[in-house]
Amino acid sequence: NATQPSTQEKYRVETIAHRGASGYAPENTMSAFRKAEEMKADYFELDVQMSKDGHLVVIHDTTVNRTTNGTGNVKDLTLTELRQLDAGSKFNPTFAGEKIPTFDEVLEEFRGKIGILIELKAPELYPGIEEKVAQALKKHNMHKPKNEKIIVQSFNFESMKKFHQLLPEVPVGVLTSDPNHLSDAKIKEFATYANYVNPNLKIVNKQVVENIHAHGMKVQSWTVRSRSAVQPLLDAKVDGIITDYPDYVPRNKSN
Ligand code: G3P
Ligand code: CA
Repeated sequence: NATQPSTQEKYRVETIAHRGASGYAPENTMSAFRKAEEMKADYFELDVQMSKDGHLVVIHDTTVNRTTNGTGNVKDLTLTELRQLDAGSKFNPTFAGEKIPTFDEVLEEFRGKIGILIELKAPELYPGIEEKVAQALKKHNMHKPKNEKIIVQSFNFESMKKFHQLLPEVPVGVLTSDPNHLSDAKIKEFATYANYVNPNLKIVNKQVVENIHAHGMKVQSWTVRSRSAVQPLLDAKVDGIITDYPDYVPRNKSN
């Protein structure tokens, strides 16, 4: 009378700290990434863009105006100019002196310690950014991820197709807020190159998740900024929750 093993695997959701643990430290800074690791998030998310002189930097907006003490487009400033800016004080003066990180220093410090969800932000503004990101991952020996958790995502689907061709072993994700991108036809097309479909939480439900799973892909949804936003995503059985507050997501138990 041996009991049959359950055929249903236990559901566990992964926690992804959005722009680092950006509820607790300035977004897309080393402090926010360290906080994510300290809070035992499974991943942190970051946004990559390129300086005028071709260096990869970690910042969300295409200008430095909102998050730093400077002004101007990221693409019109050199690395030296970007590194002189204060990316911490606007969040809280206790973070004064925090810099815009280079993509390289983030990989250097966090490789193998925590998953990294890498968003190529507005790649259409930065011709060649896919090659540069691929090169950086190769340099840090992260282009054949095994136990290391690396995902590259973008709202720009052509960029993700290209990235998939450059580094086929690195999982890629498509980001969307558009419900039309969740049609059967679109999901089928995404499945030809992507491993993740990462929708805005406003357009996610159980059926959407089941359909994406049926095509062999996973779902990480964003952006949780309130405790009440968590349960609907757990009910929909998303694979990952992207949140400014990693502690809002229940952990280490079956949800
Ligand atoms: O990771 C998903 C999320 O970061 C996409 O939106 O605007 O925060 O980059 P955004
Ligand atoms: Ca992002």
